[in-house]
Parts: sequence; structure tokens; C-alpha cells
Amino acid sequence: MAGWPDFRSRATEPERMDTEPVSDAELAACLADLETVNRLTRATPPTLGFLEALTRGWPAGLPLRVLDVGVGQGGMLRAIHRWATARGLVPQLVGLDLNPQCLAAARAATPPGMAIDWVEADALAFSPEHPPHAIVTSLFMHHLDDRQVVRFLRWQEETASHGWFVNDLHRHWFAWGGFWLLARVAMWHPLVRHDGPLSVRRAFVRPEWERLLAEAGIRGATLSWHLPFRLCVGRLKQPAP
Ligand SMILES: C[S@@+](CC[C@H](N)C(=O)[O-])C[C@H]1O[C@@H](n2cnc3c(N)ncnc32)[C@H](O)[C@@H]1O
Repeated sequence: MAGWPDFRSRATEPERMDTEPVSDAELAACLADLETVNRLTRATPPTLGFLEALTRGWPAGLPLRVLDVGVGQGGMLRAIHRWATARGLVPQLVGLDLNPQCLAAARAATPPGMAIDWVEADALAFSPEHPPHAIVTSLFMHHLDDRQVVRFLRWQEETASHGWFVNDLHRHWFAWGGFWLLARVAMWHPLVRHDGPLSVRRAFVRPEWERLLAEAGIRGATLSWHLPFRLCVGRLKQPAP
């Protein structure tokens, strides 16, 4: 450990995952560890809770179009597919990622009967063919700098017909220390040991979200904190289905 970090502002140091070439096998190992992290940190309930609220009152049989940006190995989209199917909706899901290795891992981890479209693109230069009802992200926003976050928030607001949900981390010393320790005890991949605690340092606190939303000109978004240390931002536009 290089010393106790400063948590007063977002770290600007890039994650190794975004900058270093890694082999397919290494990336697959990292993404598998990330799925474990997501399970331990209960990643899906906040996003599924948001989609539950977004589709309240929708009759069974309606399509639900969701775009997940920065999809990684695609675990969130598979959870959305299972939830939507159980809810009686017809999931039409698109997973977008800049990294073709992530998309290959996502395809490989997805059962053959689960129809999900995988798209390779930069989130900051993408316009979907069919506007999704909802755009969701998980552990993606902290990869962007503040200017990019504002741009992405505006784009989400314009592009999603019914709403959007950002599922990310709360920048807090306890989350950072907890992850640092857990990653070593569990002997996760060195890339995860490096990028995990850095992700917490790159993440957000409540007043930053309030400022970024104001800069993007977005009103009516709701911030919510979920155990352990997820700080999420949701926006429900609530037009008719
Ligand atoms: C930490 S991973 C999160 C993966 C997954 N959403 C999860 O929660 O496990 C961040 C993902 O965002 C992707 N990413 C980063 N910058 C991106 C960009 N500009 N456009 C699209 N994807 C991007 C990375 O390739 C990576 O798969």
C-alpha cells in the first residue's frame, strides 16, 4: 500500500483495465473476480428495484428495452433478463462495451437461449437504432472524468424514453479499505487488486452528483445509497409504456 489516500476529491489515475493490454485469459479471470465482487456487494438489487419502479403497472407481454453501457462480462444484463422474464415482460437487451474482449467474455457467459445483443462501441460516441426504455450502467461512470460524466448524463436523459439508472460506488475510506483487504484475503487477480480500490477512489460522493446533475441540467433524479457502499442515481421520466 503506497499510503493512506486522499478521499476529498476523485482520483484521476487511470485504471489498468482501461489502459493496459491483457490476454483474453487474464481478462476472463478479472471479469470472473468482478462477478464475485458484484455478488458480494449486492450489485443487482438497486438496478432491478429501479426497473421494477419504471415498469410498475405495465401489463405482461410488453417489451422492455434496456441498454447496459460498460457491460463487462454482462452479469447485470443476465439478471435483468431473468427478472423481466419472471415479471412477464419481453426483455430486449443490448450490452455495449468499448472492449471486444469483454464482449467475447459476456457472450461466452450467456446461456444460448438468452437473447442479448452485444455491441462494441465507445459510450461517448454511440446512438442506438431503437431508443431504449431504460439505460443502465454499473461500475461504469467512475471510468469517466467529470466533463465526460456531464456529457453522458445529458445523452442518457435525451436517449432513454422512460428513465436511466447509474449504479456506482461511494468514495469512502471504509469502502476503499474493505476492498483493499478483501481483494488480498480472497487472492483476486492483481489487476482487480489494483483497480478495485482505485475504483472507489475514482467514484463519487453525494454533493458531486448534485453538482454534476445540475451541470447537465437534469432535474428530478434521485440519489440512493445501498449497502455496501453503492451510491446510485436514478431518473424516472414516467411516460406511459
Ligand atoms: C468495471 S467494468 C464494469 C463491468 C460491469 N458493468 C460490472 O458491473 O461488472 C467497466 C466496463 O466499462 C467499459 N468501458 C470503459 N470505458 C468505456 C467507454 N468509453 N465506452 C464503453 N465501455 C467502456 C470497460 O471496458 C469495462 O468493461
